[in-house]
Amino acid sequence: MAIVVAKIGTVLSAKTLALERFLSSPSSSSSTRGLGLRVVACRSSPSPSTETGISRAQRSMVEAFDPEIPLPEAITPPSSWYTDPSFLALEFDRVFFRGWQAGWTYGLDGTLLKATRITGIKNFKKDEFGLIPLAVATWGPFVLIRFDRHPVPHQNCCIKTVENDWLGSASNILSTNGIDSSLKHVCRREYTIQCNWKVFCDNYLDGGYHVPYAHGDLASGLNLDSYSTLIFEKVSIQRCEGGPTDKDGFDRLGSKALYAFVYPNFMINRYGPWMDTNLVVPVTTTKCQVIFDYFLDVSLVDDKVFMERSLEESERVQMEDIVLCEGVQRGLESPAYCSGRYAPTVEMAMHHFHCRLHECLGNI
Ligand SMILES: [Fe+2]
Repeated sequence: MAIVVAKIGTVLSAKTLALERFLSSPSSSSSTRGLGLRVVACRSSPSPSTETGISRAQRSMVEAFDPEIPLPEAITPPSSWYTDPSFLALEFDRVFFRGWQAGWTYGLDGTLLKATRITGIKNFKKDEFGLIPLAVATWGPFVLIRFDRHPVPHQNCCIKTVENDWLGSASNILSTNGIDSSLKHVCRREYTIQCNWKVFCDNYLDGGYHVPYAHGDLASGLNLDSYSTLIFEKVSIQRCEGGPTDKDGFDRLGSKALYAFVYPNFMINRYGPWMDTNLVVPVTTTKCQVIFDYFLDVSLVDDKVFMERSLEESERVQMEDIVLCEGVQRGLESPAYCSGRYAPTVEMAMHHFHCRLHECLGNI
């Protein structure tokens, strides 16, 4: 499976690199308007861009979240982060890689071979419009590509550099917890969810807060008292021990589960003989696509009964999360709501995610 990791951590699977879809969506246009409601610091329309390329309204939304406030006193980002099209436009600019496609033809070495419909163009040199070289490395089952405005010459790039960029000091704990290339990719499932992409991330990052309420079956397979969260530079890791196995001996979760969130939109889940990855792709302000890839220990890939039952249970959990996320989005769109609070002992990873986003969006 190919995974593309941008300079600032954006992760896109090869299949979903249809970035023109992002760019053609109304919400990614700088000309889009806000929702027209005027709840202070919650919703706003873009005002003329400043020299920094960020409008006053966008800046105001970014600054409405203060990462300096300690977690027990912290206020969550305003609802405009989840509902305002101009905020999504800013995220596309600052958080996600942008690309374009014009039907031009390139050689395998990136040289521009043919440029279509440029009759009449002046001073055009094909040599100056080749593809930009990118640093590539592998880590476990992932292929990482580093986007950089000033690409490192190939000979100076090493796997360690890319690994450090992507996972930072979390790479060790991940590599010693079974996230490796010996697992076999068995299937992919894709879900379209009617919520902002960050709602899915927030739900994932709540330290198991919602698990006993939203996932009764999953909760019975986990020892939720053992839930813990570790925070790294761009990665947060939630860990939980497994609970008792089913009466019939079925156990897809094993003795421990590890849930790693790699900023901004990629998740790696390792439990029992399974690993699944979740890629969250923003589609519009209120819609995202989540792509699940499932990997299984090779000793079990022929056990169709185990595989099907595991996937069924996982599917049920996803459906429960979709109901939850879509409900949260509806709540965020209520004019009565602006910001909330964090549960300090469980939602550390969510706060970390918001602080990372603020740093990226506010880095002007
Ligand atoms: Fe969930």
